[in-house]
Amino acid sequence: DTKIIKIDSNNIDSIKLKEAADILKSGGLVAFPTETVYGLGADGLNREASAKIYTAKGRPSDNPLILHISSMKALDDLTEGESLLGKKLAQAFWPGPLTLIFNKSSRVPLTTTGGLNTVAIRMPAHPVAYELIRQSGVYVAAPSANASGRPSPTTALHVIEDMEGRVDMIIDGGKADIGLESTIVDVTGDVPVILRPGFLTLEDIKKVTGEAEYDKSLFQKPTENFKPKAPGMKYRHYAPKGQLTIYEGESGSVIEAINKAAAKKQSEGFKVGIIATDETLKAYKDGIIKTIGTRKDEKTIAGGLFQILREFDTEQADYIFSESFYDNSLGQAIMNRLLKAAGYHIEKV
Ligand code: TXA
Ligand code: MG
Repeated sequence: DTKIIKIDSNNIDSIKLKEAADILKSGGLVAFPTETVYGLGADGLNREASAKIYTAKGRPSDNPLILHISSMKALDDLTEGESLLGKKLAQAFWPGPLTLIFNKSSRVPLTTTGGLNTVAIRMPAHPVAYELIRQSGVYVAAPSANASGRPSPTTALHVIEDMEGRVDMIIDGGKADIGLESTIVDVTGDVPVILRPGFLTLEDIKKVTGEAEYDKSLFQKPTENFKPKAPGMKYRHYAPKGQLTIYEGESGSVIEAINKAAAKKQSEGFKVGIIATDETLKAYKDGIIKTIGTRKDEKTIAGGLFQILREFDTEQADYIFSESFYDNSLGQAIMNRLLKAAGYHIEKV
């Protein structure tokens, strides 16, 4: 049975939080809110506990977990050798939506790192996540709390959809602010490499370290010879049940092409969904038309992406047509997720 509790992040109920922390301490599973997406937590140094995460999510065992910490001292325990880059970035952005890849210490089980000699570490800023980790006294391994392959959860309701009956507790702490997973940066080399784009952008990283680059494979379809460095990035992810196509080009041409495609699929008897923006909502004619957010504030688009993909699953859309959102550096993170959701199905118009 899954216990579902609400915790107000502005006024944390310490008795409820203790109950959750005790579950983690004793090897159970707790789903909790973070500022990026909801996480599914277990004691990351306890093999049996972290093995339960893979079962609950249906996640392939070569896909490593992020260890969530609440104090810098954890780095001495979990990492091996010095990373000046890592220290600088941690100081600049923790607690926050940044995951750093370090060389792992012998304390971190290979079952947690998917067999890698590196370990992913993040100190989250969400007060409920932060306090939960602190009180539990363990390092909390936590992937996004979705069933493997589904869009990451940005509300407790999404977690309940995917995880009820599979975990010990779900903490409802409201909507995840950012709505996209953390930026992952490998700091084991001379130059920081972004393995997964997120709310913290290449420019943000460069301001601290001078240089930084993207993992070259990020915006392309993975192949045998061209695999992303973050193992999880190779899976078809965030996938809605319907077939998603992204339209790229000048706004007027995109609208025209989507209207044409939507009319055709609808006349063939399919259920059609359209991902529009506040600005273009009225320009579309056929199908279920939903706005993802406003182009005036790309944070709304980032925050709306996983929600809208889940809504089109609920609507049982067979085909989904979307605009593209490359407009600025947050657009890189949005498009990375959207391209994966579309299986890299793009129409240039
Ligand atoms: O925002 C987030 O990061 C959320 C919240 C809950 O903190 N967590 C999250 O975890 O997105 P998950 O498991 O869904 O994604 C972790 C990603 C995967 O793509 C995985 O392959 C990569 O991090 N990763 C983990 N350890 C790694 C390592 N040692 N080297 C390279 N990539 C790693
Ligand atoms: Mg995930």
